[in-house]
Amino acid sequence: MKEFLGMEDIQRVSELVMERISSRPTVGMILGSGLGSLADQVQDAVFVDYADLPNWPESTIEGHSGRLVIGVLEGQSVMIMQGRAHYYEGYHISQIGLPVKVMQVMGIETLLVTNAAGGVNPGFNPGDLMLINDHINLIGMGGLSPLRGPNIDVLGPRFPDMMNAYDSDLRKIALEVADELKISLQQGVYASLAGPNFETPADLRFLHCIGADAVGMSTAPEVIVARHGGIKVLGMSGISNKANLDGNTPTTHEEVLEAGQVIAPKLINIVKGILKRIDD
Ligand code: HPA
Repeated sequence: MKEFLGMEDIQRVSELVMERISSRPTVGMILGSGLGSLADQVQDAVFVDYADLPNWPESTIEGHSGRLVIGVLEGQSVMIMQGRAHYYEGYHISQIGLPVKVMQVMGIETLLVTNAAGGVNPGFNPGDLMLINDHINLIGMGGLSPLRGPNIDVLGPRFPDMMNAYDSDLRKIALEVADELKISLQQGVYASLAGPNFETPADLRFLHCIGADAVGMSTAPEVIVARHGGIKVLGMSGISNKANLDGNTPTTHEEVLEAGQVIAPKLINIVKGILKRIDD
């Protein structure tokens, strides 16, 4: 596996996907743990297994499947990643960025990302939804950027801006949709860590101090690639557990999956409402 994927690698994958579909999707979606059932509602669905796409990172985690679902959802032409891979699974960071680069080459203009996250904000409870207003990319600050390596100038600039990374117009739509559906939606900053271990109580107190409201092991790399390519992003976290700031309660993958069952129906309804409102 090469460390840096080039335009030819990205084009090869996008051609393989485009061979299988008759019209181009405009909205990309990356669904985290527990949201797979949204992909089952896609009409005229075409499925492409990640295993058939060279260099595409496959998820090895329970609760994540591994395929693209391309079709129509709430009147939008969508390409859904049903399951995502994480850096801790052993991939190069450039591979984690590949799917979004492929989306860009295919002409996708909007990306909806969801994840499961621990609630660092003491006001958050398991089962809450959080609209991501911004992120703190701790793994990126340590040097792990999906944009590391030769810049692909046709995709975006060497030094992409990260203002409005989570698009303010899309956030406004999300808040309106949540209000209409009477689903309460928290807002906050998502901190991206590499994982796979959960945080120590000292890690969590640090995250709280630096302004994080939620913490997880994904999302920032994909969002950075999207912004590099000019794709608008909307992100939402399902708060699956309360961060253990006091050091008394262990965090388990089981509770993350369990909370996912409470979160999924709410998140699915908001996502569907947003899709209805996104302009082509
Ligand atoms: N920490 C990091 N990632 C997570 C958590 C957490 O507490 N919960 C779900 N994903």
